[in-house]
Amino acid sequence: MPAQTAAPQPRPPVVAALTLGCKLNQAETQAAARALQRAGCVTVDRPAEADAWLINTCSVTHAADRKARRLMRLAKRLSPNAPLVVTGCYAQHADAALLAELGVDAVVPNAEKAAAADAVLRELARAPAAGARQAARLADRAAAQSTGRTRAFVKIQEGCDDVCAFCIVPSVRGRERAVPIDAVVEQVRERVAEGVQEVVLTGTQPGAYGRDRGDGASAARLLEALLSRTDAPRLRYSSIQPQDITPELLACWQDARLCRHFHLALQSGSDAVLRRMRRRYDAGQFLGALDLIRAAAPGAAITTDVIVGFPGESEDDFERTYEVCREAGFADMHVFPYSPRPRTSGAVLEDDVAPQVKRGRARRLRRLAAEQAERFRAGLVGETAPVLFESFDGERLRGLTDTYVPVAASWAGGPAPLNRLTAVEIIGLTDDGGDAPAALGTLAAP
Ligand code: F3S
Repeated sequence: MPAQTAAPQPRPPVVAALTLGCKLNQAETQAAARALQRAGCVTVDRPAEADAWLINTCSVTHAADRKARRLMRLAKRLSPNAPLVVTGCYAQHADAALLAELGVDAVVPNAEKAAAADAVLRELARAPAAGARQAARLADRAAAQSTGRTRAFVKIQEGCDDVCAFCIVPSVRGRERAVPIDAVVEQVRERVAEGVQEVVLTGTQPGAYGRDRGDGASAARLLEALLSRTDAPRLRYSSIQPQDITPELLACWQDARLCRHFHLALQSGSDAVLRRMRRRYDAGQFLGALDLIRAAAPGAAITTDVIVGFPGESEDDFERTYEVCREAGFADMHVFPYSPRPRTSGAVLEDDVAPQVKRGRARRLRRLAAEQAERFRAGLVGETAPVLFESFDGERLRGLTDTYVPVAASWAGGPAPLNRLTAVEIIGLTDDGGDAPAALGTLAAP
């Protein structure tokens, strides 16, 4: 009698759900991926052959626009027949004909991003099923690549009521809308119950949390609620404007579960340029905020963004920026040469700093950034720090301190200690592929 063959098991559709841009976008993609998983899909967060693609785009610079288009082309190359759904800030304002040319099947506006998973499921229902052999290959790859559960991004608000002259974000994200405190607490509890060790609180303007609600909600109230009502081992709340740094907010850092990493975008150290950029602080107030942070959270890492070559930026203005950065002692800096963005007030100013001057200023600041990052990391040598290891390549564990310093540590024992906070003694620095050396650690005795 011929042997009975088992009926082929239906296999779940594989969706590549990819993010460009900020942590808010990451939170939104993770939410869409969870909805897709609940609907029976397997999701991967890296480019891969897939049954459908969801790309959450960014448009903060021209380079971000280019990256979005490149990723769409890659999706079509890897999976020519798979539906391609795009959302996010680039998709929001890109020309519809161009998106169609790139093979996009559906565009989900930012305001409807919560329904991005539904759009993918609709497109999947319309798409022809993958052949049996390809299907098996897709499922295997997806199983090997599916997202870990070390870190989760939780959205606390979106939108921005500021009108910075260089920034396209308010026009693609709309006015500020905070997620109510109870809803954030609920989401964080769910992630922690799933085994997540670090929750990153994200938003377009997280430091301004609650100012749209008029019910007493504020960033300080939110953090107090999260610290008292959840067991999150680590909470990361980093992007804050200098004017939102208050003693009341900083008091929350007495709880060591809040990561000592603060990202305050300086943008320029020249008060004249800051005024033209329509920022709501001057250089003195910015440096004052750093003093408050360092007093409240000793050892904190403070990182920043700087734009060079904003319209009218003179040599003196740039020197002032350089000096403020030097004095600030950042743990890391992201330096962007200015380029005008559509639908911003800066776009009407004459872009009068020559490209080579912008490049030269960016180079100088990036050199300073590398020196400062190395100095900050070297300052950890001799300390023992809790590290959340996220990957192991068979030789080295890799993870982050609460101050966002990458740490590499050799491991030859049993199962790698991934996804738990582990005490690590920092013994030096090591070249480990980044712009600045990583910290080299050895696991402290338990
Ligand atoms: Fe980019 Fe939009 Fe975030 S422009 S940085 S994805 S808010």
